[in-house]
Amino acid sequence: MTWDACGDADRAEIPLLGVLIIMAFDKSSLPDQDADLDDVLQPGTCLSNNQYRIESYLRAGGFGITYLARNSFNRDVVVKECFVPSFCTRSHTAVRPRSEASKSQMQKAIRAFLNEAQILSQLQHPNILRIRHSFQENDTAYMALEYIRGHDLLDMIEDKVTLSPHQIVLLTQKLVSALAHVHDRNLLHCDISPDNICIRADGEPVLIDFGSARKMADGIGERNSGFSMVKDGYSPPELYEANATVTPGSDIYSLGASLYHAITGHAPLDSQSRLAAVSDGRPDPVPSLAATVTGYPRGFLAAIDKALALRQADRHASAQDWQRALAEPAVETATRNVALLRRVVVKPQSAVIPAPKPAPTALRADGTPRVQFRYPPSQARVQTA
Ligand SMILES: Nc1ncnc2c1ncn2[C@@H]1O[C@H](COP(=O)(O)OP(=O)(O)OP(=O)(O)O)[C@@H](O)[C@H]1O
Ligand SMILES: [Mg+2]
Repeated sequence: MTWDACGDADRAEIPLLGVLIIMAFDKSSLPDQDADLDDVLQPGTCLSNNQYRIESYLRAGGFGITYLARNSFNRDVVVKECFVPSFCTRSHTAVRPRSEASKSQMQKAIRAFLNEAQILSQLQHPNILRIRHSFQENDTAYMALEYIRGHDLLDMIEDKVTLSPHQIVLLTQKLVSALAHVHDRNLLHCDISPDNICIRADGEPVLIDFGSARKMADGIGERNSGFSMVKDGYSPPELYEANATVTPGSDIYSLGASLYHAITGHAPLDSQSRLAAVSDGRPDPVPSLAATVTGYPRGFLAAIDKALALRQADRHASAQDWQRALAEPAVETATRNVALLRRVVVKPQSAVIPAPKPAPTALRADGTPRVQFRYPPSQARVQTA
């Protein structure tokens, strides 16, 4: 299908949907299930009265599928679709519950998705993903998002893209500033990790994926207002607890862990194993960056070590505190580039191109391929908030 076939090309974007929806969405009981290729919208599919035309599939996560699309001004946008493979299936373009029992789960997922859109709409910062529009269609919900031309940090790390200490320092300053902006609005991200940080072609970092974000009252993340995605290596110990007290310090830990990964080329050991080692009187298996890495401004690495403290009380009290620690001007003499890693996520596309087939991780029993997921279940788990 061509763009013309989608009809009206000059429609203005319409505003975000209504008020903040408080969600109470327990995903912990869901079985791990992959989307398969039949679940993905086909290139040429038009959405929102022809405002968006799907160009290609980008990624499938546990709760959504992202696509590269064109808007009615023929500009690239990212469209994220609420699609939970555990209880959704596709019938033509519509998303259907897999069973009667899945119906209410699906409704909760849609409310959670719209909540993510609402949270994003409250944030305006050069290093935070901009949302353009959210809407409901095909019995599910969608977000139209700014397209970040670049790669996510995880892909860069995995593909060994080299970032200099200077670039990492600049990236850190911007991400800490973005985090301060989130916390200033009484919000918590709750899922900061390298795959949720995109790097534009000009090196500018952008914090994305507010799917686990929650509101904060009196400095603590609200309970039962959502769910948290626990990612080994990036999640602080408190996020593993059933009645976790999530605070700005939890995001600070996750950002510290993401930067640790960027600097060393590997994610820190998961915080529960660290905690177990320290409780046993063994040394912390995550070595101090300040003691082991050179070539960075004085205090810069120590500030990441502080962000990665196991006890919340030992971390920076706030993102602003971390910003102040970054104000140290002195630079050590020995510089060395850091090998980072990468795989292309989002390729700039100039014309109508058929969706690339995602690399299948396995075949289903009937021989059809599954869609690739970023984190195997052992690394990414969903926990009830
Ligand atoms: N606006 C964007 N521009 C470019 N690439 C993007 C954009 N949004 C997402 N991506 C890419 O798609 C990947 C998945 O997006 P995102 O993190 O929003 O979804 P997810 O992790 O699948 O989310 P969920 O946990 O809600 O299922 C990102 O890691 C990034 O590589
Ligand atoms: Mg993500």
